Amino acid sequence: MQRSFPAFAACLPGLEPLLHRELAGLGVAGTQLQGGVAFHAEVPLLLRCGHWLGTASHVLLRLAEFPCRALGELERKAAGLPWEQWLRPDVALQVRATTRKSRVYHTGAVEERVGNAVARAFGRALPVARQDGELPTANLAVRFHADVCTISLDATSTPLHRRGYRLAGAKAPLREDLAHALLLAAQYQPGEALCDPFCGSGTIAIEAAGLLLGLPPGRLRPPPLQHLALFDASAWRSVAAERRTVPPPAPIAASDRDAGAVAAARANAERAGVATAITFTTAAFTAQPWLAEPGTAPKSGLLACNPPFGHRIGKGQDLRPLYQTLGNRTAELGPGWRVALLAHDPRLARRTGLRLSMQCSTRHGGLPVTVLLGQLGTDTATPSDGA
Ligand SMILES: C[S@@+](CC[C@H](N)C(=O)[O-])C[C@H]1O[C@@H](n2cnc3c(N)ncnc32)[C@H](O)[C@@H]1O
Repeated sequence: MQRSFPAFAACLPGLEPLLHRELAGLGVAGTQLQGGVAFHAEVPLLLRCGHWLGTASHVLLRLAEFPCRALGELERKAAGLPWEQWLRPDVALQVRATTRKSRVYHTGAVEERVGNAVARAFGRALPVARQDGELPTANLAVRFHADVCTISLDATSTPLHRRGYRLAGAKAPLREDLAHALLLAAQYQPGEALCDPFCGSGTIAIEAAGLLLGLPPGRLRPPPLQHLALFDASAWRSVAAERRTVPPPAPIAASDRDAGAVAAARANAERAGVATAITFTTAAFTAQPWLAEPGTAPKSGLLACNPPFGHRIGKGQDLRPLYQTLGNRTAELGPGWRVALLAHDPRLARRTGLRLSMQCSTRHGGLPVTVLLGQLGTDTATPSDGA
């Protein structure tokens, strides 16, 4: 039985250095590549990755790689693989193919042939994946590039950023892995105060509370690999029993002017098991208690948020005064504070007048977004007239 697999932790483009750092924290010396980090892993490490990584969206195991120039050859070679060691006959199978610069170009036919090969190994076809994602599903990725076929298996049934707590929605919610990345990029120290005055569905505050309480991002998800024959129940018990050192508690304040969003955020935080760590308030950001009366705020902390932007919400509205006021209020928190903005529009971010530096950029909801960090008390930037 194969014990060690070439693995690839995938993330949103631009988040690779943060994912690389997270993996290093799990003791993994990986190689940073475009779109993720490559490493070698045995099952216990795959379980830890699926449970503890906050910025990854998938962890893929490379099962096989072989030269291949025809569909018949694909089915024959795929049928020779030890599928019973990897897949469970009672779990649905989804095969997705891509091909580039290869003689085999018909992705539908590739999916069918690999499905046939798996069915041969088990003596019958595996259940078909449901579109609503309700059934646990084994996801196989078959990639052809320059006549080489690579077959990979996803270590989890659903993407890792779907943590399972965000059932209640709000406008323009942030992906959980991106909220996590914002906090890691800002080197949010558990034990440090945190304020998100545009909390929406609460993602940033909930991810921060998870870090503060030392909770694994995958805590609400089924165990990684559980839907596969590779699952090792005894290794999982050890991984599930791991605890992180928890620093002294620090306040997390989340607010939004939309009462519905705050109710959703509170419900999400309850599901995530962190509601007691977060103080929720319905208020415009100017009335958020620490921003309204900086004297009541902790002496140091991190203001982390993704303020409204023009494309999906607040369309047509002039947001420049909002960003300018946000900058002024934030500056009054004093030099112990830092700021982390997830900005869709750098020109708007410049309106804050805060000295911000770009940490990384990625895409969210089809739009480019930038992580900007600043330390208060340093010189303020000049707002751009072009904004
Ligand atoms: C981009 S969304 C934040 C999404 C959030 N990070 C999440 O994960 O759901 C911006 C939020 O700002 C809120 N908002 C807009 N103008 C505001 C204001 N003046 N004061 C407070 N909140 C405001 C909106 O209600 C919206 O929930």
